[in-house]
Amino acid sequence: MSPFSPALPLADLADGRGRCVSIGGRDVALFRVGEKLFAIDNSCPHRGGPLSEGDVSGCVVHCPLHAWAFDLTTGISPGNPRARVEAFPIRVVDGGVEVALPPAAADSVAGANQDG
Ligand code: FES
Repeated sequence: MSPFSPALPLADLADGRGRCVSIGGRDVALFRVGEKLFAIDNSCPHRGGPLSEGDVSGCVVHCPLHAWAFDLTTGISPGNPRARVEAFPIRVVDGGVEVALPPAAADSVAGANQDG
């Protein structure tokens, strides 16, 4: 079984803008930068800002709440590698955008390894 799940039609993803889609109960931020597509977790690790609503500059998105930056290719903040979101494989099949989330992502115990 393919790990990829359908997200939305490619035509619904505007260049330089983000879109939030729910896949398996998880909110994923999708971005199109020219010919490139990116998928990262939608929730900013600072205070949960919706990254899909952030400003995109090159391959970096800035959180709309407090402007933390995340590289769309890795999910890692360029200025603080400890700040990161998950980045997911993304592809286009027959005009539709598909994203591969980790197995059982919706069922995982988020934050189980975090202290405090
Ligand atoms: S919630 Fe994203 S920078 Fe504060």
